[in-house]
Amino acid sequence: MDYLANYDEMAPRYKKLGMPVPRRDMIKTAEQIEGIRQAGIINNKILDLVADNIKIGMSTLDIDNLVYNATIENDAIPACLGFEGFPKSCCTSINDQVCHGIPDAKTILKQGDIINVDCTTIYKGFYADASRMFQLGLISDEAAKLIRVTKESLELALKTLKPYCRLGDIGYAIEHHCKQNGFSVVHEIGGHGVGIDFHEDPYVAHYGKRDTGLVLFPGMVFTIEPMINTGTRKVFLDASNNWTIYTMDGGLSAQVEHTVVITDTGFEILAY
Ligand code: MF3
Ligand code: CO
Ligand code: CO
Repeated sequence: MDYLANYDEMAPRYKKLGMPVPRRDMIKTAEQIEGIRQAGIINNKILDLVADNIKIGMSTLDIDNLVYNATIENDAIPACLGFEGFPKSCCTSINDQVCHGIPDAKTILKQGDIINVDCTTIYKGFYADASRMFQLGLISDEAAKLIRVTKESLELALKTLKPYCRLGDIGYAIEHHCKQNGFSVVHEIGGHGVGIDFHEDPYVAHYGKRDTGLVLFPGMVFTIEPMINTGTRKVFLDASNNWTIYTMDGGLSAQVEHTVVITDTGFEILAY
């Protein structure tokens, strides 16, 4: 399907129905999607490498070095490095860190930790963005449940994806599942369009009402990246680095992120 031609035909209809439709520049061409797919393949390989090597006793800087070296070896660029002044090639967020943890030599992975590694790869100008959770040794039942429910919430969000679904369907699926399990959803940070740039429109909230919000058209590429807390959803920004977000109550936080594209039949995961 020619996604731009489809947009030109279908967008006026949804508009006449009174529904919010994406701008035309939020629709990617088949060539652009192929470029993002290639960036995603590399990004997946990098996160696989992290999965194979992460262990108790290593520092988060060691993880960053793995990510940096693997990215360069694949003729790619780590999008995080230098992005708005971010000093490292990936984000490593441990335990009560919600996101944007900065890798450093002093943070040593220890038994019972849970950590998110968030990696974005630029290849031939195209961006793919994904993150995964890792556990170090045996973790608490609460931490294990948090990771499970966070992954399930992303899976449930994916199930809502089809042409002309609504942004609110995604957020509803995530928050409903997490609340049912006694967890909370961070509201301040969301998913985003991605592909030609790091962060594009639309903003993808991880909470919302079904059948509300932007109508999603084939050819739209964006991330879904729920951040789920065991306690309060309230968070704060570390004033010492202006990057790292923590849970306000010190409870655990987990996150997983995929880059996806809406296709003419449903969706495809471009980075996991
Ligand atoms: N990868 C993060 C996201 O999912 C963004 C990290 S920005 C950085 O959007 F500068 F902290 F790397
Ligand atoms: Co993202
Ligand atoms: Co990311």
